[in-house]
Amino acid sequence: MSSLLNFIDYRARARQRLPKALFEYIDRGSEDEQALLRIRSSLDQITLTPSLLNGVDQPELRTPLLGQALAMPLVIAPTALAGLVSFQGEIKLARTARDLGIPFCVSTQSVTTVEEIRKQVPDANLWFQLYVWKDRNLTRQLLERVQAAGVDTLVITADTPVSPKREYNVRNGFSIPLKPSLALLLDVLGHPSWLVSVWLRQWLASGMPSYGHYPAQFRAAVTQQTVHEAVRLENRLTWNDIRQIRSGWHGRLVIKGVLSPQDALLARDEGADAIVVSAHGGRNLDIAPAPIQVLPAIAEAVGGDLQIIADSGVTRGSDVLKYLALGADAVMVGRLPLWGLAAAGQQGATDSLRMLRNEMELAMTLLGAHSVRDCRKANVLGRQRALFVKPSPGAYPEITA
Ligand SMILES: Cc1cc2nc3c(=O)[nH]c(=O)nc-3n(C[C@H](O)[C@H](O)[C@H](O)COP(=O)(O)O)c2cc1C
Repeated sequence: MSSLLNFIDYRARARQRLPKALFEYIDRGSEDEQALLRIRSSLDQITLTPSLLNGVDQPELRTPLLGQALAMPLVIAPTALAGLVSFQGEIKLARTARDLGIPFCVSTQSVTTVEEIRKQVPDANLWFQLYVWKDRNLTRQLLERVQAAGVDTLVITADTPVSPKREYNVRNGFSIPLKPSLALLLDVLGHPSWLVSVWLRQWLASGMPSYGHYPAQFRAAVTQQTVHEAVRLENRLTWNDIRQIRSGWHGRLVIKGVLSPQDALLARDEGADAIVVSAHGGRNLDIAPAPIQVLPAIAEAVGGDLQIIADSGVTRGSDVLKYLALGADAVMVGRLPLWGLAAAGQQGATDSLRMLRNEMELAMTLLGAHSVRDCRKANVLGRQRALFVKPSPGAYPEITA
């Protein structure tokens, strides 16, 4: 893995390994991909000024979050279909999280179920991300399974009432089960090692890859036009639903997708323990603000009452420090560990986050920050200007290889 030195290398390796349809599903945004550009350029506008001669030897990354002691302020974000990126991808991500001392948030739309992940990795710190289905009884049953699997932290994703418009998925024929087309066939045949080591292996082990948590009678059709009404995402979700789920859920509750102080205050009032300030990695609402732009106002409104996790666009350790400096207690990472997983399986996912950790330590030393708490006190420039960012030419550097 010594040739993979930064996120650009991991992403380029992932692009080689995965069929184009799957790579783009992970990598891209929605509609005109302005949110994706905004996230990157807003982060780039922020600078942190060092505090000199602080004698930092080994920066301390350990941090408390939701009553748990994390080895560093990171959480592996919930990502649908990680089991298509590598065979048993979700189990590998859980092992990565365990080895690094951080939580892994299992998606409602994972290929492997939370019970199976728990069985394979009993000592992992598992969180669960909930998409509320239209059929509330099925949703309730799912939550009972999650609780029985020993999960304490529930993350309700509030920013996805409907599936967003991602035209490249349509052009690439990306759906589960995959709709046969000549273009898709050629795409998959052009990546024989993925076809054999992921797709065929999964198919032989447990049939056509699919959303593992979905009740068997609805599973085959997910993500197609004909998705069954019962497991459609609930577009009429309200704060009343959050109140109901809160009253039945005995663990910690996190609301994901908050982008305004008003919603942060509502989340607090409805009994959430934390929020994720998130633009869903630029994959949903294309006119959404970048989380780093709105984070200071949200932290000011609820910082003392709620813990704040932030995400979107983290590709460097310094991105994590920027989120911490502007008010986050921890940060979720989505694409980076998926690129690592695609590049080299569990080892790749672990190495990609170790790389992030090393970059954080390096940047903290250069900043003169002894601890995560010190990052909160960092001198931040760009806070105001970040509201008026110009899009940079591309969210990620072009891959030339
Ligand atoms: C391939 C992929 C699938 C995702 N699936 C989910 C999901 O099932 N539930 C959810 O709440 N967020 C999902 N997300 C969003 C992530 O949880 C997270 O908010 C986002 O990836 C953070 O941005 P980053 O990828 O730039 O780190 C997904 C993101 C990606 C890249």
